[in-house]
Amino acid sequence: MPDVTDTELCPAEFLGEDRPSRSLSMPWQINVALTTRCPLNCPQCYVKADEARDIDWAVLAAYVAEAAALKMHELNLSGGEPLSYPRLAEAVRLATAAGLGTAVATSGVGLTAALAKELAASGLGSLWLSLNGSREEIHALSRTCFRETLTAAALLKSLGLPFYINWVARQDNAGDFPALAAKARDLGAKGIVVLVLKPDSRHNAGAVLTGEAFFRLAAFLRDYDDPAMPIEVESCYSAMRLAVHGEWTTGIEAGCSAGRDTVAIDVAGRLRPCPHLDSAEAGVTIAEYWRRSPALAALRATEETIGAPCRGCGHLPFCRPCRAKAAKVYGDPAAGDRQCPVALREMTRHLFR
Ligand SMILES: C[S@@+](CC[C@H](N)C(=O)[O-])C[C@H]1O[C@@H](n2cnc3c(N)ncnc32)[C@H](O)[C@@H]1O
Repeated sequence: MPDVTDTELCPAEFLGEDRPSRSLSMPWQINVALTTRCPLNCPQCYVKADEARDIDWAVLAAYVAEAAALKMHELNLSGGEPLSYPRLAEAVRLATAAGLGTAVATSGVGLTAALAKELAASGLGSLWLSLNGSREEIHALSRTCFRETLTAAALLKSLGLPFYINWVARQDNAGDFPALAAKARDLGAKGIVVLVLKPDSRHNAGAVLTGEAFFRLAAFLRDYDDPAMPIEVESCYSAMRLAVHGEWTTGIEAGCSAGRDTVAIDVAGRLRPCPHLDSAEAGVTIAEYWRRSPALAALRATEETIGAPCRGCGHLPFCRPCRAKAAKVYGDPAAGDRQCPVALREMTRHLFR
C-alpha cells in the first residue's frame, strides 16, 4: 500500500464541501473482470453471467494506458476465470510494459506448465489460487474442482513459481481453517488472504459466520505466527481485522476500499466501485469517474450515512464493513452491518456480567 499520509487526498470539491477527503487523489488498484467464461459453477459465486463474454481488448488497453498515466500501482485480473481469457498473458505483458503490477485470481483449472511459464515471463506479479477447504468435502460446499486446484498448486510448486491462496470465510469452512493453513504450507503457498463472504439476499445469506465461529477464527488468526507463510485479512473484512488486530488501521486503509483507493472495471468495460457493487457507469475515463461519480462520493460519506449498529459505534473510524453486503442483503449501500459479531458482543456484554 502507498503511504496515504504522503499522498495528495481527493480534492474536497469532488466530495462535497461538507465532507472530509476520504480517498487517494487517484485509485491505487483496479480490479478487472476479463471474462464471464468459467469452467466452474461454484455455489458461492457472485458472478451470475447469462452469456460468455470477454472484455473488449481495445477498451482494456485504453484503461491500462490511463491507469499507467495516473501512476496507479496494480491491476487485479479476475473474472469469470481469467485462464479462460485467451489474451491473459498478453494482458499481463501490456500492464507490465506500462509499469503496472499485476495479480491473477484463479481456480487453477486450465493451468498448464506452458501457460504458467508464459505468465511468469510476462511479468505476472502474483497468482492467487482459490481454495475454500483443506478437504474436498469442505471445499465442495462452496466451490467446485478441488482436485484441479491442488493439481495447479503442485504444478506451480514443481516449476518453482510462487502462489498464494484466496480463502473465503464461511460458516461451513471456518472450523477447517487451521487445517487449510497446514494444507497451504504443504502445497508450498507463500501466503493466504482471508476474504469476507459477500452474500446477497438469495445466495449465501446462511453462510455468514456465527459469532462463535467468527471469534474462534479470530483467536486462531491472532495467535498465528509463521512468517514463512503469512496470513492476511482483506481490508473489507474489517470486523475480523478489528477482532484480530484491534484498532490497527484508520482512514483510507480501514475497511471497504471501494472509492477510497480501489476501482473496478466490469466485462462490459464499465467502471464500478468494486466487482461486488452493481452500480456501473459507462463512457467515462477512470479520472472522471474517480472525481465525479455520485456512487463513489456516497461511499466516501459512509462514516456520516451508515446505519445501525455501525452508526455511533466507537470502532467506526477503524472499520467500514463491506458495502456490497449492505447493498445486496439490506438493499441499501449505507446500511450498517446488522450481523456484526463485534457490535453484537458489545451490545450484549452487560447481560453476562
Ligand atoms: C469470482 S472468482 C474469479 C476468479 C476465478 N474464477 C477463481 O475461482 O478464483 C474470484 C474470487 O472471488 C471469490 N468469491 C466468489 N464468490 C464470492 C462471494 N460471494 N463472496 C466472496 N468471495 C467470493 C472466489 O472464491 C475467488 O477467490
